[in-house]
Amino acid sequence: MSGSGHVPPPPGGWRIPLVRPDVPAFADVAGEIEAAVAAGMLTKGPALARLEAEAARWLGVRQVVGVANCTVGLALVLKSLATVRGQAAGGCATPATCPLPALARTPGPAGPAEVIVPSFIFLAAPAAVVWAGMRPVFVDVDPETFTVDPAAVAAAVTQRTAAILACHTFGCPCDMPALERISAAAGVPLVIDAAHGLGSAVGGRPVGAGGLAQVFSLSPTKLVVSGEGGLIATSCDCLASALRVAREYGNDGSYGCAVPGLNARLPEVSAILARASLARLDVVAERRRAAAAAYRAALDVPGLGFQTIPTGATSSWKDFVISVDAERFGIDRDVLRERLAAAGIETRAYYSPAAHQMEAFAGFVQPGQRLPVTERLAATLVALPMGVHVTPDVARAVADEIRAAGGVSRVASDRSASVV
Ligand SMILES: Cc1ncc(COP(=O)(O)O)c(C=O)c1O
Repeated sequence: MSGSGHVPPPPGGWRIPLVRPDVPAFADVAGEIEAAVAAGMLTKGPALARLEAEAARWLGVRQVVGVANCTVGLALVLKSLATVRGQAAGGCATPATCPLPALARTPGPAGPAEVIVPSFIFLAAPAAVVWAGMRPVFVDVDPETFTVDPAAVAAAVTQRTAAILACHTFGCPCDMPALERISAAAGVPLVIDAAHGLGSAVGGRPVGAGGLAQVFSLSPTKLVVSGEGGLIATSCDCLASALRVAREYGNDGSYGCAVPGLNARLPEVSAILARASLARLDVVAERRRAAAAAYRAALDVPGLGFQTIPTGATSSWKDFVISVDAERFGIDRDVLRERLAAAGIETRAYYSPAAHQMEAFAGFVQPGQRLPVTERLAATLVALPMGVHVTPDVARAVADEIRAAGGVSRVASDRSASVV
């Protein structure tokens, strides 16, 4: 089996699935859904407006624009950059909070715009770059945090760079101060794939406020769920206005269309679910922290490694991954996955293959380009079950199976691990 191989469930199904959505109780949304249906108000209604206002307050940004999903949100942000650059030249509506005026780089040579993006990322991000008509330029990630390496980003900036796209990978906040410095020095907007970011924080403040825009996902594997959905957070009013038009086919209300858009609206029922889900985010995030702490304590054995969450940062633990060093642990990642599958435990080889190893993006890889950290992570990381069903006891049970698979009977130390 290759790292990306599909591991089929055992005949009885998964005993412990990889994810189970943490959905609000139906009673908490039934009244609002009934009212929306009775009113025939299924899209562009009050629930979306309330969700956007509440999420903006939660994230500490001027504007949140709800969209159909994070992938389309990323594509629309990238596609809207040209529009907002033009507007910013004429004076941004929110100069105090908008980073655009600082990004007035003179246009480079003709040719397709480039977006610098880590290859160690979910495939939706480079796909969004391509759908926006741009070229992904893949760079490596930090071996400890698995988030993009700022030095690699700085080295990849050219006259063609239209944006830097970083990610709060698995919920670990990326190095915003370093990336914002690079963004400002190069005059290139910083956009964040914050799909995993609801539940993540730095210095106790939710991620979401840095860069030009951060795009969150509300799909069922996340901490805040709406079925499908996305939230674009920005403090640039120009960008928010452009996005509200772009998510509406490009129709600004006059039936004129200056920029071709998409139908990327977030329906009312999804917005109702998302509001109820956002209200429980602290509780859901705390549960994941407890599960992550149990995993860490029970997997402190030679040959297994963890993602490092920087001091002062908090992960959402959207995913809990471990690295497997075959020599020290006794078996490699893929054999471990097979043994866990035989015990009814579902895992995923995130992210394997990495984006630059995928057929869809082969045309964007420079000849002979190697991304050693990304390639090592793609070969050695495995995501363990995480979600509402993973109590600390369940995490310890999964860890018992992992240690048994590697022939390890005890953890290396008796100290209990704490995680952030
Ligand atoms: C890092 C990352 N980016 C983007 C996406 C796409 O999000 P969506 O499914 O809302 O389009 C995901 C989905 O899980 C993701 O993990």
